[in-house]
Amino acid sequence: MTTTSPTPLAPAQSYSLEDWRSGYRSQPEEFNYWITEIEGAIPPELTGTVFRNGPGLLAIGGYPVKHPFDGDGLVCSIAFHAGRAYFRNRFVRTAGYVAEQQAQKPLYRGVFGTQKPGGPWANAFDLRLKNIANTHIIYWGDRLLALWEAAEPHRLDPTTLATLGLDDLQGLIAPGGAFTAHPRIDPGHHGQPRLVGFSVKPGLSSTITLYELDSAGQAISQHRHSIPGFAFLHDFAITPNYAIFFQNPVSFWPLPYLVGLKGAAECLRFNPQQPTKILVIPRQGQGAMQVIDTDPCFVFHHANAFEQEGQLVIDSVCYDRFPSLEGSQDYRSVDFERVPAGQLWRFTVDLAATRATVTPLVSRCVEFPALHPDRVGRPYRYLFLGTAQAAQGNAPLQALLKLDTQTGQTDIWSAAPRGFMGEPLFVPRPQATDPDEGWVIAMVYDGERRCSDVVILDGRHLAAGPVARLKLPHHIPYGLHGSFVPEYFGPPLP
Ligand code: CO
Repeated sequence: MTTTSPTPLAPAQSYSLEDWRSGYRSQPEEFNYWITEIEGAIPPELTGTVFRNGPGLLAIGGYPVKHPFDGDGLVCSIAFHAGRAYFRNRFVRTAGYVAEQQAQKPLYRGVFGTQKPGGPWANAFDLRLKNIANTHIIYWGDRLLALWEAAEPHRLDPTTLATLGLDDLQGLIAPGGAFTAHPRIDPGHHGQPRLVGFSVKPGLSSTITLYELDSAGQAISQHRHSIPGFAFLHDFAITPNYAIFFQNPVSFWPLPYLVGLKGAAECLRFNPQQPTKILVIPRQGQGAMQVIDTDPCFVFHHANAFEQEGQLVIDSVCYDRFPSLEGSQDYRSVDFERVPAGQLWRFTVDLAATRATVTPLVSRCVEFPALHPDRVGRPYRYLFLGTAQAAQGNAPLQALLKLDTQTGQTDIWSAAPRGFMGEPLFVPRPQATDPDEGWVIAMVYDGERRCSDVVILDGRHLAAGPVARLKLPHHIPYGLHGSFVPEYFGPPLP
């Protein structure tokens, strides 16, 4: 009788790079159909539409983009009604997308390093921006808006996703102006919901303009603040009284960009000797901005902020340094272990003492925080995030994590080894009484089928796995941000 040696332990890595990489294939097709392949059951009381944005093309003609963030915006909608779901995806017909699809080659330089063919000579001093509308999508004041932070929003038809044109937010944004890709919805500013957004003019000193819009999309307030130094501000947080920005310690060395060697975002340098600055701006526009130094870190996304007994609490996904883009490296062969992982940190700011203390909340790799829409800017209990399968180190997001911020307890569902997780959205159940009563909806790329799934989980029990897994018959490349709206925007119902 022979004995077999025990099965070797599974490798520490919870995924194959080849699977992960296969999620970065262009999806040039546009679809619309009722989703028919469903494991489990869509909750019949789930009514509304998920909108989601992200890069849809990873090449233009035969020319690969240098980084996915340079990919043209591809918007998806999944409309839920009475236990059924309708899928649709459309490219945002930006001027650049239309022109480049005709030319079948890049006609613009990308912020993240994509160059026009022809080498530096063909790229030097071409500083035009291509508004690629690929970062977020929101529905506000009966307008569906695809957002990219360095230019104006594009308005889309919420049912067909057809592009209707640039949108200046009813005259708020000057031609050629910008609007953040991360506005925040204040659920009840003196009882009325508001959209709070901003734009940044970077330079030797930077100007932040804060905007507030009422539920009809009309501007209520607008004020400007000047801050010293360069500012790369992707996101911010709000409370009923404050808008809070983190000015990461990065500087911008434009020469390689100007002379056509690098994209603008490749010219950012992290300065680990300098503090991160927390900028606290009164939303009412009266009173001075306060600036509070904290430990050097880099933040793309804030989870939430709230006011408590004279203090401001801000929960943010922090990197210990800027996850810089290595000029020569192909993003598809990234060594995750060499790139810093995002972790959830809590900053408690004493406004009177102008001092911040930092506490780690989640040390495993996380990104894409989401919470109950009624808790934005308020004390909150539950946070949902994408997370890695392994508890330590950096790796692709493959799982969903629910954090109880009161007890520190976590609840995790993983799609590893072959699933890769997108941004979760939390959708409260109608007439819910508990703050986690609702659904967590996310898009998961399945490396085995080479197709995407939409998963719906019960917000109270993530570890129980999806209550429904909707299997799309095609893939959608890894996306960025999205929104849920309670309106149904599918085809007419019988
Ligand atoms: Co973002």
